[in-house]
Amino acid sequence: MTAILAPLRGVTVKSFRAAFAREIKAARFCESVTPFITAVQGYDPLKDRELSSEGEEPVPVVPQFIGKDPAALEHCLERIKDAGYDRADLNCGCPFPMVRKKFRGSGIMKTPDILAKMTETGVKIMGKGRFSVKMRLGVDSPGEILSVLPVLNRFPLKWITVHARTAKQMYSGECDMAAFDAAVAASSNKIIYNGDAPFPPETARSGTAGTMIGRSFVIHLGTLENIRDLLERYAEISIRELCGDRPALGRLKELAAYWKELPGWKRRWPVLKISRTVGEFLSAASLF
Ligand SMILES: Cc1cc2nc3c(=O)[nH]c(=O)nc-3n(C[C@H](O)[C@H](O)[C@H](O)COP(=O)(O)O)c2cc1C
Repeated sequence: MTAILAPLRGVTVKSFRAAFAREIKAARFCESVTPFITAVQGYDPLKDRELSSEGEEPVPVVPQFIGKDPAALEHCLERIKDAGYDRADLNCGCPFPMVRKKFRGSGIMKTPDILAKMTETGVKIMGKGRFSVKMRLGVDSPGEILSVLPVLNRFPLKWITVHARTAKQMYSGECDMAAFDAAVAASSNKIIYNGDAPFPPETARSGTAGTMIGRSFVIHLGTLENIRDLLERYAEISIRELCGDRPALGRLKELAAYWKELPGWKRRWPVLKISRTVGEFLSAASLF
């Protein structure tokens, strides 16, 4: 079963992938997609923390880009290709109004000509079957994807990951399985299912090439016996990467927030969330 570790900005970051490398390998993810990197003129993606050459990645990493400027995307892809990356992904799913109203992220679904140019650029630079797209069922309504797929059908993509929600739904509410299945039927590219999929992964949904998993994997980490040691390692790597205790503490809290409903963490969470230093946080993580 093909399972992919989802990009979760602020969570499945480079330091996370280093600290939880064993768990990511044990989960047999075939690749992990980075949280998005902005493709704008003049930005060197190799300077981005996500693509820092320090340390090894547990599974092959796929840089994900967000943007609407094909020339900027071309420059970014040339740079990463020169550095040895052989895959890349385009974010067509970010639901935040600030992003989508500028026709980036999920907003690009509203501008098929630009989507076509971005995709054409991706395939041209990375090669046939090496560029992928991650998108929603639509921005406002779940049928919108059906008018976008004919654009993508013209290109030989690795696959299209479809988060079975609209952008308006953000990250909650029901996934629309009927609309998802209609998208599978309308795509000549392979489709990866995404949205509330459980970890450990179950059999892939019929007609799909695999599943992308985000939050259920992160929640699973909170159930591990050695989680206290893993957190300590994550803290250490994050402090080094972010050059300070405070930003690292923010990251630790963001991660632990996924565990607040788990037995054990439910009682720790109120203490964790008010901790003022990484030291306080790690002590609170060992409470009870
Ligand atoms: C905090 C957070 C950050 C996210 N960041 C990204 C991102 O950078 N790029 C992206 O394509 N999707 C991003 N997503 C969406 C996830 O990759 C995924 O599509 C979504 O969480 C549904 O999958 P899940 O239910 O398995 O978590 C993010 C989601 C969350 C909750």
